[in-house]
Amino acid sequence: MSKVKFYKEEQIPLEMHKVRVVQKLTLLPVEERLKKIQEAGNNTFLLQNKDVYMDMLTDSGVNAMSDQQVASMGIADDSYAGSETFNRVKAAIFEVFGTENVLPAHQGRAAENILAEAYVRPGMVALMNFHFTTTKAHITRLGGEVVELIQKKGLVPQSDEPFKGDMDLDALKATIEKYGPENVAFVRVEAGTNLIGGQPVSLENMLAVADICHDYGVKSVLDASLLQDNVYFMKTREAQCKFMTTKQIYHLLADKMDIIYFSGRKLGFSRGGIITSHNPKYTNEMMEYIPLYEGFLTYGGMEVRAMEAMAVGLVESLDMEYISQGPEFINYLVNELDKYGVPMIKPAGGLGAHINCSEFVPHIPHDQYPAAAVATAIYIASGVRGMERGTLSEQREADGTERFAELELMRLAMPRRVFTLSQVKYCADRIKWLYDNRELIGGLKWVEEPKVLRFFFGRLGEIGYWQEELAKKFREDFGESL
Ligand code: F0G
Repeated sequence: MSKVKFYKEEQIPLEMHKVRVVQKLTLLPVEERLKKIQEAGNNTFLLQNKDVYMDMLTDSGVNAMSDQQVASMGIADDSYAGSETFNRVKAAIFEVFGTENVLPAHQGRAAENILAEAYVRPGMVALMNFHFTTTKAHITRLGGEVVELIQKKGLVPQSDEPFKGDMDLDALKATIEKYGPENVAFVRVEAGTNLIGGQPVSLENMLAVADICHDYGVKSVLDASLLQDNVYFMKTREAQCKFMTTKQIYHLLADKMDIIYFSGRKLGFSRGGIITSHNPKYTNEMMEYIPLYEGFLTYGGMEVRAMEAMAVGLVESLDMEYISQGPEFINYLVNELDKYGVPMIKPAGGLGAHINCSEFVPHIPHDQYPAAAVATAIYIASGVRGMERGTLSEQREADGTERFAELELMRLAMPRRVFTLSQVKYCADRIKWLYDNRELIGGLKWVEEPKVLRFFFGRLGEIGYWQEELAKKFREDFGESL
C-alpha cells in the first residue's frame, strides 16, 4: 500500500491480491441475532458460523490461502514416515529461520505442551513478557508458575509507544536472580503480544532478552505465532530494521533464541505447529514427546496438505506486500473508530482491532464481564463475531476468587487476506452506532462455568433485559435495514 498515493480521496489500504474463491455469507435480522447469541449462552465461541456475518473471532486457521498454497496441496506425500512433504516444510523453515532442527506438532498449543512437558517441573517459573491462555494453562498444569515482565508502557491502553510488547529487562534480571536460574524453566518472548492487543516487541528488546538469558544460562524461547505482524512493525517502526530484509530479521532472531515455536494457524497462513532450533540438544530433549502426544516425527499430527500449504505460506511470510495487509486493515479500522471517539487500544497492533471496554462500558464492573458483554452487543448490532479478551479469559485464582484482567479487551481479529474494505467499513459503522448507545449495554452472569479455559465453552446470561432493549433500539434507528 505504501507505494500507492491516491489522487484526491482519503488514503486507504490497497489490497495487493485479488479474490478467486468466495464463501457466501448471511446477515440475519437483528431479532434473529438476539436469539442466536442468547442460545449460544452469550459466548461468541458457541455461535454457529452460519449465523455470523463477519467472523472476527480469531485470525487462527482462518487466513486465506494463496493460489500457490492451494496448488502445493496437490503434491502432498501421505506417507506415515519420511514423507517428502516434511522435507519441504524443513526446507521452508531453513529458508525462513535458517534452522535445521524441526519438530512438528498439531498446532501451537501442542508445541507449548511439549515445551512444558520437557522443561517445567513443580515449583519452577516461566518468565515472559505476557502470558497467552494456552501457554499458561500448560505451565500451571505441570505445577509451574508464570511471571509476567511486560514494561509498564504495555498496559497503557492509549499511547504512541511503538513497541508495547517489550519486556522489562531490569525486572528480567532481578527475577532470574530472585528465583535462581536453575528454577527458571525458560524465558518466553511472545511476538505480537496477543492479550495486550497484538502489540509488537522490538528487535532490540528481543535480542537483549536473549543476551540476558545467555548470561544467566537460562533457555530463551520465542513464540513466533504472531511474528509476521511483528516483523512488519519492526520494519516500519524500528530504525535499525528499516534497511534489513524480513529474512534477515527472522534469521537474526533464530540465531539468538534457543528455541522458536509457532502456531501454523497464524504464521504461514495454514494449520499445524512447529518447534525449531539451531541447537539439536533442545529438539532432542523434546523429541520423545512428539510420537507420544502428536504423531510420528515427520508429521506430528498435522495433515500433509496443510503441511504443504505451510511450507509455501512460511516463505510468503517474508513478503512485505502480503504481511502488510493485516496490520494496515487493522490500522484503518482502529483509526475510523478512534476518530469517532471509540476507546481503542492504540497504537493499532497486529492480529486485530481491540476495544478498551473499561472505557467503552465503564458502568459494568469486572465481575459482570464488560468485554464479554460488549462482544454480545456487537453481535446483536452487526452480526460480527469478536472475542472477549478480559476477565472472562482469565483463570480464577486457586482460592476461587476472580482474577481481574489488566485490560478488559474486546478483540475484532482480522483474518489475513479475507475481508474487503467495505466489510471493514460496515463493521466500523455498527460499532459507532453501538458506542452512541453504550448506556444500554449491561452485564453478564454465569449460567455454567467450566473449571478450565472457561471462555471456550462457558455459558452466561444477561443481567436484566438489556439485550432486548438494544435490539429494539437498533430496529428504531435502522428501520428495515439488516
Ligand atoms: N501463542 C500465541 C501467541 C497465540 O496467539 C496462540 C493462539 C497460540 C500460541 C496457540 O496456538 O491456536 O495453534 O494452538 N491464538 C489463537 C487466538 C487461539 O485466537 O488468539 P494454537
